[in-house]
Amino acid sequence: MHSESLDTVLVAGATGGTGRAVLRLAQSRVDTVRALTRSPDAAPDLEAAGADEVVVDDLLDPDDLSAVVAGTDAVLSAVGTSPVAIRSGPPFVDGAGNRALVTAAADADVESFVMESAIGVGPEPASPLATAFDAFIGPLQKAKASAEASIRDAPLRHTILRPGVLTNGSRTDVVTAAEPGAKLWGLISRADVARLMLAAPLTPDARDRTLEVVSTPQFDERAAPIDWTLPR
Ligand SMILES: NC(=O)c1ccc[n+]([C@@H]2O[C@H](COP(=O)([O-])OP(=O)(O)OC[C@H]3O[C@@H](n4cnc5c(N)ncnc54)[C@H](OP(=O)(O)O)[C@@H]3O)[C@@H](O)[C@H]2O)c1
Repeated sequence: MHSESLDTVLVAGATGGTGRAVLRLAQSRVDTVRALTRSPDAAPDLEAAGADEVVVDDLLDPDDLSAVVAGTDAVLSAVGTSPVAIRSGPPFVDGAGNRALVTAAADADVESFVMESAIGVGPEPASPLATAFDAFIGPLQKAKASAEASIRDAPLRHTILRPGVLTNGSRTDVVTAAEPGAKLWGLISRADVARLMLAAPLTPDARDRTLEVVSTPQFDERAAPIDWTLPR
């Protein structure tokens, strides 16, 4: 990894909405984009979406995560559990899965780890709407909090992004990123989150930070000034 480029990234959750947006953006900006999925059948689709390599493993029952992360500059994790699957109970990929990936990345001397978390995760005060939402997805938020903690403890540069409600809208590049506790609430497209995830490893202002992020409404007065830098 150089100051302006990434040679190899792993996109975990590559078949998901945010993961696909990361693949689309990374394909022309990163030499080797590796996509993780549990499904071998997804490989052709992921390659068409921008992946150079596809690795098949289950973060909750991994075969060999050292091979999954080997040689990567950055791990970008957009894994998550569908809210309808909450009733199946833990472990959730949001928590245990991300923690396993962090451990493997640290063991392999990966430089940077970026996690897509969610607004409302963590002990900081959240907006009333985020708090109300937590009543439904509390177990997933708790799992994400455990993964966030393991990332902060690991010997890696990290950025944890806590987006508001995700949409499939287009990329706008108009985002508010703010410190935890800023009580942001609103929408953000997966494409806008993908830009931040790919930029985070090369953005000094995002280093070792946890950030709430939304696109609309904007909260200029709460925004942290960050000059997001995409590879190349
Ligand atoms: N929906 C919202 O409004 C909202 C708001 C804030 C934050 N978030 C969070 O943002 C993240 C991304 O959301 P999204 O909707 O873009 O994603 P998504 O479409 O739900 O995709 C989730 C991904 O997780 C992967 N995954 C699930 N279990 C796995 C396991 N055991 N091992 C490896 N991979 C696994 C799936 O891959 P395979 O099935 O291919 O294995 C899939 O690609 C999630 O953490 C979500 O909770 C969502």
